[in-house]
Amino acid sequence: MKHYFIAVTIFCAIITRISCCDVVKLTFPSGFRIGTASASYQVEGAWNVSDKGENVWDHWTHNHPELITDGRNGDVACNSYYKYKEDVALIKNIGFDYYRFSISWSRVLPTGFANVISEDGLQYYKNLTAELVANGIEPVVTIYHWDHPQVIENMGGWTNELIVDWFVAYARILFEALGDSVKRWITINEPDTFCEAGYEGTTKAPGKVISGIGKYLCGHNVLKAHAKTYRMYDEEFRESQQGEVSIVLALASYVATNSSDTESVETAFQFNCGWMAHPLYFGDYPEVMKTRVALVSEYQGYPRSRLPEFSDEWIAIINGTNDYFGVNHYSTNLVYPDPAEELGVYRIDSGVIRTIDFSWPATASNWFYVYPPGFGVLLRWIRDEYNNPPVWITENGYSDSGQLDDYERISYYYDYIKEMLIALKRDGCNVEAYTVWSILDNFEWHAGYTERFGITHVEFDDADTNRTAKLSQNWWMKVLSKRKLQSVPTNTAAAARTLLPWQK
Ligand SMILES: *[C@@H]1O[C@H](CO)[C@@H](O)[C@H](O)[C@H]1NC(C)=O
Ligand SMILES: *[C@@H]1O[C@H](CO)[C@@H](O)[C@H](O)[C@H]1NC(C)=O
Ligand SMILES: *[C@@H]1O[C@H](CO)[C@@H](O)[C@H](O)[C@H]1NC(C)=O
Ligand SMILES: *[C@@H]1O[C@H](CO)[C@@H](O)[C@H](O)[C@H]1NC(C)=O
Ligand SMILES: *[C@@H]1O[C@H](CO)[C@@H](O)[C@H](O)[C@H]1NC(C)=O
Repeated sequence: MKHYFIAVTIFCAIITRISCCDVVKLTFPSGFRIGTASASYQVEGAWNVSDKGENVWDHWTHNHPELITDGRNGDVACNSYYKYKEDVALIKNIGFDYYRFSISWSRVLPTGFANVISEDGLQYYKNLTAELVANGIEPVVTIYHWDHPQVIENMGGWTNELIVDWFVAYARILFEALGDSVKRWITINEPDTFCEAGYEGTTKAPGKVISGIGKYLCGHNVLKAHAKTYRMYDEEFRESQQGEVSIVLALASYVATNSSDTESVETAFQFNCGWMAHPLYFGDYPEVMKTRVALVSEYQGYPRSRLPEFSDEWIAIINGTNDYFGVNHYSTNLVYPDPAEELGVYRIDSGVIRTIDFSWPATASNWFYVYPPGFGVLLRWIRDEYNNPPVWITENGYSDSGQLDDYERISYYYDYIKEMLIALKRDGCNVEAYTVWSILDNFEWHAGYTERFGITHVEFDDADTNRTAKLSQNWWMKVLSKRKLQSVPTNTAAAARTLLPWQK
């Protein structure tokens, strides 16, 4: 019996070694890039300096504080408009290869349009970019991260197709001004998130509830704006600047409650990832989206599908406009078919109910439960669906209530990145880069400052907005210097640490 156990143990050890090959070492491959990220409205503050115009988040938080958990706003946030040199020094000190930041449209174009360029506004981004380059950190720039000018929203924002040309004109100014230094561009961040939460709900600006219609119209115009910008870069800048342009999608992963139900998983992926990515790689929306939205629209009495259609001209413009695949990933959903459909009732466009396994560890965000294997599932799905494109993980991170001893955040990074490394090394997923969200605690949209994603604490209750390292920042410093995942520290020192006033 004893020998049997020893044999089994040895056998398992061999199998583990073979199946994980050098994954067991948990090293990053050479050339793999690791960076960190932020977004303009979440960190900059300085909402009304110089000639900056009002954007939808200024407007939303000032007019609807009751819709923000703590009633607060991004007027000051991390003060990064004034502290960008400190931010860059921090990023350099930790050892990141690149910094993904976004540009505030209404800071650069105070009227919202290309007739007036703010000298100060543009100078801020020139300064930030120059500071990064001078410190050997690559700037990765998001052109739009949810804060469009309020004047454009007054005309329908992303539901008005005219935004396409306004967006292209704005992007051209940025390519012209920054394109000599910036070689990696992201047109738009997470359309799947702001189109739904902002045009069919009230958790994101502009908070217009246009049920069943708003998000598809928004997504349609986002794809057009992205693709036209990509084509404009091709025609006017690519040759001289040699950069890459992509869009960033917020992608959940999906696991069926019934393990043989592959159809619900596939449909859920198509309605989330495929909605934006299928047009970019194949010219049009996924077949299952077209049929399902048409079916449910008809059931609801609409004369035509609520999912808009692309003309052949637009299909040609949109098809093939993603130089790399930008993925923001946080969490996984459980899926199963809507039982109401067996009774002939069509309530959900996808026909799939998304839920959460409440046995998974919770975070500070109500939508966010920890399930590391989901990350691998997502990466393999992208590999198979889009012919293994180069993938940049443009965001991944963990929310808590702000403690400096953020052991759970370190565990999250360890477990998720391990899944990513297995997908990369064992399964051949073409992942080129990984981005930590976020460098600083910041204004977490409708959650205000109640949910913290930073590896650095920011003292929002004091005008100095001082930064303090969390445990996870020190962990990242080691990971970056060794280019290898480091073990998760055990929570023994917690009691010995001095608590900050806000922690007591
Ligand atoms: C800018 O906004 C702040 C509130 O955040 C206000 O106190 C200040 O007076 C405003 N400044 C200008 C120039 O309007
Ligand atoms: C940009 O940098 C220059 C030189 O350091 C400085 O004078 C100016 O205030 C900065 N502008 C902004 C908007 O940060
Ligand atoms: C699981 O899905 C399979 C295939 O769709 C089906 O045959 C089976 O009845 C399902 N099981 C349960 C418990 O719903
Ligand atoms: C999209 O582009 C690919 C690659 O160029 C091409 O094979 C495919 O036919 C195009 N799809 C459509 C719908 O035009
Ligand atoms: C913030 O940091 C500065 C510089 O280290 C220090 O002088 C100041 O006292 C700090 N403010 C607070 C509120 O801790």
